[in-house]
Amino acid sequence: MESQTISIVGLGYVGLCTGVGFASKGFSVIMVDNDPKKVTAVTKGIPPFHEPDLEKLLQEGIKSGLLKATLDIEQAIKNTDVTFITVGTPSNPDGSIDLKQIKSCATEISKALAKKDKYHLIIVKSTVVPGTTENIVKPLLEKYSNKKAGSGFGLCMNPEFLREGSAIFDTLHPDRIVIGENDKESGNLLHAMYQELYGKTTPFVRTNLPTAELIKYANNAFLATKISYINTIANICEKIPSTDITVVSQGLGFDQRINPQFLRAGIGYGGSCFPKDVNALIAMADQVGYSAILLKDVQEVNENQAKHTVEIVQKILGELVGKRIAILGLAFKPDTDDMREARSIPIINELLNKGATITAYDPIAHSSAFSVFGNKINYVNSAISCLKDADCCILVTEWNEFKHLKPDDFKKHMKQPILIDGRRIYNPTEYRKKIQFEAIGLGPIP
Ligand code: UDX
Repeated sequence: MESQTISIVGLGYVGLCTGVGFASKGFSVIMVDNDPKKVTAVTKGIPPFHEPDLEKLLQEGIKSGLLKATLDIEQAIKNTDVTFITVGTPSNPDGSIDLKQIKSCATEISKALAKKDKYHLIIVKSTVVPGTTENIVKPLLEKYSNKKAGSGFGLCMNPEFLREGSAIFDTLHPDRIVIGENDKESGNLLHAMYQELYGKTTPFVRTNLPTAELIKYANNAFLATKISYINTIANICEKIPSTDITVVSQGLGFDQRINPQFLRAGIGYGGSCFPKDVNALIAMADQVGYSAILLKDVQEVNENQAKHTVEIVQKILGELVGKRIAILGLAFKPDTDDMREARSIPIINELLNKGATITAYDPIAHSSAFSVFGNKINYVNSAISCLKDADCCILVTEWNEFKHLKPDDFKKHMKQPILIDGRRIYNPTEYRKKIQFEAIGLGPIP
């Protein structure tokens, strides 16, 4: 069987990584976006965001001719067999999902389908609340194309589980593939495509459209719950002398029913998915008549971790007016310049409100951080210059280079060597010997 040709609408993380992933395995891919700047950059092999291995694979794809980018959705549909919808689904102010981009994309695809005779498969890959593909996307696709889903064109929902910072790796090595199908033929076609891409060992879950949509939310909400759970235990540790959450996590993680992942306590989760998706699930549950109290608490615990971090600073320094705080790391996690919902934001804003001055260093996120903080904070070009003359330092993002700092670096450069480890990367025994060291989930010295 000849490989299907693919178009991808929406050049965010999911779209670009999916496109690059398919092209790296020999598929021909046309990527579409309505932002001319993005399309021009991608055509030149320049990724619009930082992601390990992305630039290399993008350039290889462009060079080999397998990857193309365009503004023209109609041509992209005409010249391919399969289209992935990967546009953004941001939050409305009330936490519910904003489907504007999904609706306009489905409308454009529908109009393009009207001009095409050949069978075409549409796959919703954007994160959308249960019912969206069936009740919003499908009717729109049918409306302008004058075709029926199932006979005139195929329709699937296929959520993506990639993590920023390892998006290419995750795209090429998924734990499983979830296919929600409108009809058997649509599901079979997508299943065959993925088997060509990943081989036969990757597990598949085939189901209906709303169940596939819910799996994505349930997945993210579960991981967020795991983090808020371990942060709850971390907060308890801080009240019990001689305890340490990192050891508690280890003890839990060896239980195969729990597993060690997502048990790192700290200042909380951020990023483009967890806060948004948990809110959307809560809002959707409220709408259908269930108050998801567990998930509401998960979000509250997360918000409180940032406040709690500032309280630790205040407990040590007292009045913060005029105090200089060094912030190591701004991005929501290492290996990305993404500032969406980064925990640095509530922490820094709260410190600024209390009159502190902030000096920050992040290896790559300064320009995205500038669009959040502007000139309200000072940006410096190394960890050591960040520490200079600071009254207190907060480790916010666990970049690898920060793991190489030694207690003496803090002692030598800071006005007073006080370190708060918000991501548990330093050894408390080593640090407590030489500087004032506090950390999320670290019990007091007895
Ligand atoms: C997440 C999901 O992992 C991914 O499957 C989904 O497709 C998108 O959302 P991402 O947001 O890129 O991916 O990052 P992830 O590695 O999951 O981390 C999210 C946040 O949780 C980060 O702020 C991270 O610092 C925090 N985190 C993660 C913890 O605080 N503790 C942990 O143990 C793990």
